[in-house]
Amino acid sequence: MPTPHISAAEGEIAPLVLMPGDPKRAARIATDFLTDATLVSDVRGIGCYTGTYQGHPMSVMASGMGLPSISIYATELYRFYGVRRIIRVGTCGALPPAVKVRDVIIATAAHTNSSVSQMLVPGLTLSLAPSYPLLRAAADAAQSVTEVGVHIGPILASDHFYEWGPNAIPELTRLGTLAVEMESAGLYAVAMAQGGEALTVLTASDHLMDPSQDMTPEERETSYRAMVTIAAEALIS
Ligand code: HPA
Repeated sequence: MPTPHISAAEGEIAPLVLMPGDPKRAARIATDFLTDATLVSDVRGIGCYTGTYQGHPMSVMASGMGLPSISIYATELYRFYGVRRIIRVGTCGALPPAVKVRDVIIATAAHTNSSVSQMLVPGLTLSLAPSYPLLRAAADAAQSVTEVGVHIGPILASDHFYEWGPNAIPELTRLGTLAVEMESAGLYAVAMAQGGEALTVLTASDHLMDPSQDMTPEERETSYRAMVTIAAEALIS
């Protein structure tokens, strides 16, 4: 059923969804990974493409940037389109020296400075975590990735790209946080609220401790093969 933000007809979006942030990356993933992908929604330039991956119906839809944006699309997909599994495939800023630019990070938890962790049950701060079957399947799929490092652990989903409290970055690193991005806590909270499954698999596009490693915009768009393969394999598991 079309929603304020998605124009696809009922049945046009697959139960398995890959969700990058950038609409251009969604189009490229659909071309590179799906068979017979067709555009089924394009409201606000947020393209949603449906085709098949290894014979399984699969859609790719962009989330836009930030927790509020991904929360809208994820809620509407689970609630109105019968979507069962969403895996965010995005970029992040790496924190510890062991995580190199181009490495893949699978997010076992999403710390956040957003209110989403306190919104669902008043008075409580909820843990924002992925679906265990998806997490396990992604960790299994990552065993065959050799071209980049793969790291599995907590990340921070921040409401702000540029503003940090004093010492936030060293403290987060000391606490074992692998990377920073801006969507996963929103996705994990929505999945919990809607009874869906979710996971985030990221590629480090820049390094917060070592800006000399940063990728160019072109590299960001193309060096995503390991991440998308892990995510697509986990979706069909
Ligand atoms: N911060 C937040 N989000 C990001 C970053 C970052 O450094 N890099 C890619 N997404």
